[in-house]
Formats: sequence, structure tokens, C-alpha cells
Amino acid sequence: MDKILVLDFGGQYNELIARRVRSLNVYAEIISYDRITIEEIKDKYKGIIFTGGPNSVNDSTSPHYNDAILDLNIPILGICYGYQLLAYMSHGKISNKALKREYGKTTLYSTNSTLFNGIPETSICWMSHNDFVEKVPHGFKVTAKTDNCEVAAIENNEKKLFGVQFHPEVTHTEYGMKLISNFIFNICNCTPDWKIDDFAKSSIEKYKKELENKKVILALSGGVDSSALALLLNKAIGKNLICVFVDHGLLRKGESDYVYNLFKNKFDLNIIRVDARERFLSKLKGITNPEEKRKIIGKEFIEVFKEVKNSLGEIDYLSQGTIYPDIIESGNNKSAVIKSHHNVGGLPKDTGFKGIIEPLKYLFKDEVRKIGLELNLPEEIVYRQPFPGPGLAVRIIGDITEEKLKILKDSDEILREEFKNNNLDKIASQYFTVLLNTHSVGVMGDSRTYGYTVAIRSVTTDDFMTATWTKIPYEILETISTRITNEIKDVNRVVYDITSKPPATVEWE
Ligand code: XMP
Repeated sequence: MDKILVLDFGGQYNELIARRVRSLNVYAEIISYDRITIEEIKDKYKGIIFTGGPNSVNDSTSPHYNDAILDLNIPILGICYGYQLLAYMSHGKISNKALKREYGKTTLYSTNSTLFNGIPETSICWMSHNDFVEKVPHGFKVTAKTDNCEVAAIENNEKKLFGVQFHPEVTHTEYGMKLISNFIFNICNCTPDWKIDDFAKSSIEKYKKELENKKVILALSGGVDSSALALLLNKAIGKNLICVFVDHGLLRKGESDYVYNLFKNKFDLNIIRVDARERFLSKLKGITNPEEKRKIIGKEFIEVFKEVKNSLGEIDYLSQGTIYPDIIESGNNKSAVIKSHHNVGGLPKDTGFKGIIEPLKYLFKDEVRKIGLELNLPEEIVYRQPFPGPGLAVRIIGDITEEKLKILKDSDEILREEFKNNNLDKIASQYFTVLLNTHSVGVMGDSRTYGYTVAIRSVTTDDFMTATWTKIPYEILETISTRITNEIKDVNRVVYDITSKPPATVEWE
């Protein structure tokens, strides 16, 4: 099997790079630059991609790699920081005195070349950089530029070294996939033979043997990852799989019962639902700081889980719905922390298990979805919009109370209903309401009101790394606003969030 190494220098979009390569049926793995030696790279990969990263190559503390990598005769594609590093290693000059900082969608002018083969001379790319290549290294030719960046791409065909200042892996770059495909197939000569189709079948067989007569506990959240995993392991070990579903009270309206009934009644899984609503609420009382909320929820989740585990007696293994992006996040502390994500990745590993089982750990979300479908997971779960581990807690700005939770759940239900009625649920990737911690003055009947404000958030995205706000038609916005203010006591104002990511994030906290 041909493999591509994505050499990680700490960029925000690194997992996307691997995902794009895999979508071309070529296996890609991401390894941090300081965890792999030249010896380990040699003869193992058909191509290498240097990723982006937040540093400046001229800084003495910035991540670098052994120059000998350029002489392995393995094609290299450098992206953003990776491009600057490649140029630097090839004795070019990098400067931070850019005429203008380039950020976001930018017009790219490219020339026909090996890497840009089949790409129109003018196209749109996604830029995000301060530094730029000032002096092109010897042996390289310039293959693209923008209005503010004279050297937006370079290539050295003889040494098979290529670099692009922009990000071909994000969907905003119009011909990004074409460029990656040119690199993978025309330059690295990879064979597209990596498929996940029989992953579920072979995993079930594997775990049937390996886990015979063993007891396994799994934290089930109702998201696609842990749900697909529950069905997979259920097929392998049946009732020896114990699924634990913690209801922390921060789930959407109706969600707790839906998930529990589905797995208990439809799939007949061995499932325990823990009612931890009061516990979480009391721990969160008076907490307003978003990071603190996230940490409390993560910690409390572990406590609850530990207690359930102890009450069950001897359990051999812990299984987690960890997927590839989770591993990359936890294994790499170089990219800047935007939000500390809580999910099942944070479960206790030191509570007497013989081991951890993470069958999905090399898969991306879209690959897990395919497996879910194969295992007859309802489409509603397979394609459900993502829901953050800390749940509604990060959608209530300020402290969390039962009253606010009720307002948020009710307004979110109205939004979801109207999205469904108007088919907007097919267009938007994620949509929800947020309860703000400001009161404002309104008028109802002839009286003054002083009520809560609800914000509508809806984004469209492929990868959740970048997102654009959904253009909801005015009439639908009006219906949503009218319904929320009419049907929910204490809400007298509805606003619509029209920021993309970046600069905002999808969730408000
Ligand atoms: P942001 O807000 O960072 O969110 O733009 C990107 C995507 O991640 C989801 N999200 C989380 N998912 N645990 C999760 O499993 C978390 O702590 C968490 N926080 C945000 C968010 O809903 C969006 O889909």
C-alpha cells in the first residue's frame, strides 16, 4: 500500500491534508516532525507533505527538520509554513516584511507546471500568512503569485520539491483537490488502493477472537463515532459490551430518551443510562468562564464514569470512539489551543483496565459515517449535526441555571423545527440557538418587558475548520423570531449571528 507522510509542524488544518489524500484512496498518516527520524521515513513513503504551522522559520525556536530529508528522493510538497521551511532549507530567504498581510480568499495567478497541471491560470486560493519567500532558492522556479505575494508557489522538478504559500487542503481553495491529486498521482505516482469498505467486517472478526469472554465498557454519547463503535462491538461481543450513556442535563430537548431508546429497544444493546443532571448543574453553579465550564464538565464526566465502572465489578477493557482527528489533537501540542475540547478521548485510562480499544482511531468522520451506514445506524444519527461534548453549557453565555437551560432547549427546538420544515437542515451543517447574558428592554401589549436575548447561529461548512454563516431567507428568520418571542416567556429579542469562522468560532464559547 502506498503511503503519504504528512509531516506535522503544528498547523490548524493538518488533519484536513491527510483527509484529502485519503479521499483519493491513498493512505496518509500525520506524524509530528519531532517524532520521526530520517531512517523511519526512508523507503516507507511515496511522498511527504510539510504542513503549515504558526511559527516563523527565522525564529530560533521554530520547528525545523533535518536537511537530509531533501535528498531522500521522495517528492515533497510544502504548504504555508511547510513551504517557507522548504525554501529556507533549500537556501532561499524568508522575510516577515510583507507588503500586506494576506488572509482569506485571494486571487491566485499560476502558470502551467507540474503541480498546477490542469488548473486555470486565475483561480481563488485561501491564504493565511505573515511571512513570505523573499528570495527564491537556487534551482526552483516560481509557479504562482498573488497581488501581494510575488512568490506564492515554487517548484524544483529535478529534485521533486514543491511549495505553495496558500492552503490547497481547505475547500475555499478552488482547485486545491486538483493540486493535491497532481502531487499524489503525477508526482508521487501513488496507486489509489486504500479503501475502508471492508473495515467493519474485518474489525468484527478481529474483535470476536480477541475479546472472547472479555467484558468491555464503552462511553456512548449518541454521536456518530461512539454509536457506530457500539454497533460494531455489539456484533463482535454482544452482551459483554456495556454501553454507558451519561445524561449530564446539557443535551438537547428529547435527546436523552431518543438515544437511550434507540440503543436499548431497536438495537437491544446492553446500555446503562446514568442520570447525572443534578450533579453537573450543581458543579456548574455560578461558573461563567467558558474554559472553566469545559474543564468542570470533562472532570465530572470522568468521575461519573469511574463510579459506574466500579459498580460493575471486573471489566477488562475500555473502548473509546476516538477517531483520527482526536488523536492528532491530543498527540500534538504545537498548534495553538483555541478551545479545550471535551469528548470521550478524556476517559480514565488508569482505573484498572487491561487495555483500551479504539477501533476507529485511524478513521476520519466521513469514513466512520460509511461504517455507521453499513451497520444500519439510522441516517438521523449518521448525519446528525455535531454536538459539542460540553453540550448546551457552551451555548449559555454566563452562568447556567435550570431556567436558562429550559429557555435554550425550547428555542433550539423551535429553530430545529423551522429548519426541518423549510429544508434548511439539508443546507446548514450546524445550527442552534445561543442564550445571551444580556437583558434588554422590550414591549409586549402595553407593558415594558426586560427579557433575555436569543441568538441564532447557523453555519455551512465541510470540515468545521472554516465555516460560513448560512444565508437564511428573511421570511424564515421572521418566523423563527416570532415563534421564539411568542412561545418562550422571558425572551423579548432574537438576533442573528452573521460571522464566519474565522474570525468567530462555530460555538460561542
Ligand atoms: P468551534 O466552536 O471550535 O467548533 O468552531 C468546531 C466544531 O467542534 C464542535 N465542538 C466540540 N466537539 N467537544 C466536541 O466533541 C467539544 O468540546 C467541542 N467544542 C466544539 C462544535 O460544535 C463544532 O461542530
